[in-house]
Amino acid sequence: MYLDPADERILAGEQGETRQKMLALLVALGKVFGAERLVPIRSAQVSGASYKTIGKYGLEWLNSLDAKAVVPAVLNPIGMPRGRWEEMGIDADFAGKQQAVVAAYERLGVMLECTCTPYYLHETLFGDHLAWSESSAVSYANSVIGARTNREGGPGALAAALTGKTPFYGFHLDENRKPQVIIDIEADTRNWSIATYGALGYQVGKLVGNRIPYFRGIHADPDQLKALGAALAATGAVALYHVDGVTPEAKVNHYPLNGLEEIVVESAEITRIFTDIPVDAVAVGCPHCSPAEIGTIARLLEGKHVKKPLYVFASQSVIDKNRRPVQIIEKSGARVYADTCMVVSPVMEQYTAIMVNSGKALAYVPDMCGAAARIGSIEECVKVATG
Ligand code: F3S
Repeated sequence: MYLDPADERILAGEQGETRQKMLALLVALGKVFGAERLVPIRSAQVSGASYKTIGKYGLEWLNSLDAKAVVPAVLNPIGMPRGRWEEMGIDADFAGKQQAVVAAYERLGVMLECTCTPYYLHETLFGDHLAWSESSAVSYANSVIGARTNREGGPGALAAALTGKTPFYGFHLDENRKPQVIIDIEADTRNWSIATYGALGYQVGKLVGNRIPYFRGIHADPDQLKALGAALAATGAVALYHVDGVTPEAKVNHYPLNGLEEIVVESAEITRIFTDIPVDAVAVGCPHCSPAEIGTIARLLEGKHVKKPLYVFASQSVIDKNRRPVQIIEKSGARVYADTCMVVSPVMEQYTAIMVNSGKALAYVPDMCGAAARIGSIEECVKVATG
């Protein structure tokens, strides 16, 4: 594996033991995956932020490191909103340990944002190389933006944040970004909601596994694509998809599609995912809400009061920049929380059935929260919450 003189100096320990170890980790990963070299990254998103995931030994490891991130880096969602954990009913012992993990990352120069939507925080452009961890964020970066990232594990993403580089393999390379299966949508998609795209991803993810799908017959906006990609990565292992005439690489590349398997998806396969089971809570914001989604929820809730718990999840940065609609949402009795989500927060485990507007949450809520899940549009979610 080729290493430039700067890499060699880091490996020789010139920038301290932590960077030396981190670069050695990236070189080892690169060798496993056949990378020819490292590539500079624009940003990192680091998983392994929840105390539940990394535990005592993970925290000790983080505390043993001594270096600062050299590119913008954020964390994946954690089990609680940092500033409002008591209100959410989180146990003080868990909160203390979680805060220690967050403090360890802060010492390493990672921004105190715990979100699966880092693309709302830092500018991420077509062709940028990244080291992101969370599957929906990886899918959005690769597919909707046309940036390039593999799905990094926590240590790999942290090593990339602390060195500014990642091994050049997988989705960083043009040849690994070509479509592998065609998905033809035979349905009238003009009135499809974000939830319908989530349901489409839920269905197609099961059919394609880890192949790169090329969709034909849909005209989704970025929030709808966000929902599609998150669900594709949840029921399948899709880290990149293309949409004919919509996603940036499908627009600039004339991919040869001859010989690829073609799968037809009809309207009935999607509509049957929408049930009307009774629920005792509603949660939206998987992936974390965009400013436009916050605005839609506020418009729908203005002047109303919720009769069932309604949780909205977004990054702190999006919440801070959209104070007025957030106030409208909270005035209804709904809650807007940062840092966490309906899947990773233990607070959702108290419910028996949860309504969501996300195909990814539909897939994960039953196992992660022990509750039944139902999908509906944001409008339907608000209607169910306000009775
Ligand atoms: Fe994000 Fe949690 Fe969904 S991390 S994609 S809101 S499961």
